[in-house]
Amino acid sequence: MASTIGFGIDIGGSGMKAAPVDLSDAGKLAEDRFRISTPTPATPEAVAGVVVELVQHFGWEGPAGIALPSVVRNGVVHSAANIDDSWIDVDAKALFSSVLGQDVVVMNDADAAGLAEMSFGAGAGRQGVVMALTFGTGIGSALFVDGHLVPNTELGHLEFKGESFEKWAAASARKRDDLSWKKWAARVSTYLQTIDALFSPDVVIVGGGASKSADKWVPLIDARPEILVAEFANSAGIVGAAMASSGA
Ligand code: BGC
Repeated sequence: MASTIGFGIDIGGSGMKAAPVDLSDAGKLAEDRFRISTPTPATPEAVAGVVVELVQHFGWEGPAGIALPSVVRNGVVHSAANIDDSWIDVDAKALFSSVLGQDVVVMNDADAAGLAEMSFGAGAGRQGVVMALTFGTGIGSALFVDGHLVPNTELGHLEFKGESFEKWAAASARKRDDLSWKKWAARVSTYLQTIDALFSPDVVIVGGGASKSADKWVPLIDARPEILVAEFANSAGIVGAAMASSGA
């Protein structure tokens, strides 16, 4: 089969990562991913400059998929929990396509990660209600119904004790509060029980940075839904964004 290469960029609070992705070969990265620290402050202009550097690093000249930790509707950013507030209301699609001179697709980072898992990873072929969650600086969510994405669910911001759940149960909270894996798994269990009460998912895919240490905490989870560990770990956002940009 001829190879179909797409290009994905995942913009996070601390790093911006990119790679070309072989979409005809199970979403494998076609080259090692390249990371540049997210500029501070992470204004749209500064981030756009790094996007250009990432694309130039690979000499990529085609369309790109770009994932952001925000609600993104029709290319426009509508929330900024872990990025600079100046992103709100920015037409990110127009901004990135003008600096790159290429078509771009801009989407939520957890939605991108979920797409990768549903196509090529832990969720491949799964029907019913699947919830893909990323545990990192925040908690990202992607909801799939019979394989179709319901975008921008933002379930890390469900309220708990007067705050966003992610402040208490993200992977960053484990480090910040110096929690044992067991204590943190108990927090994640409370979160998953809440997700279960609201959505009754058949399957929950747990991903993000914390999925690299899945053996330390996933066996300790106490929640009803079937739990699967994401297969793409930290590359899922890149792979999903690349898929979206190529219409795969
Ligand atoms: C953001 C989401 C994002 C998640 C993971 C949350 O704080 O609101 O848009 O998906 O972090 O990065």
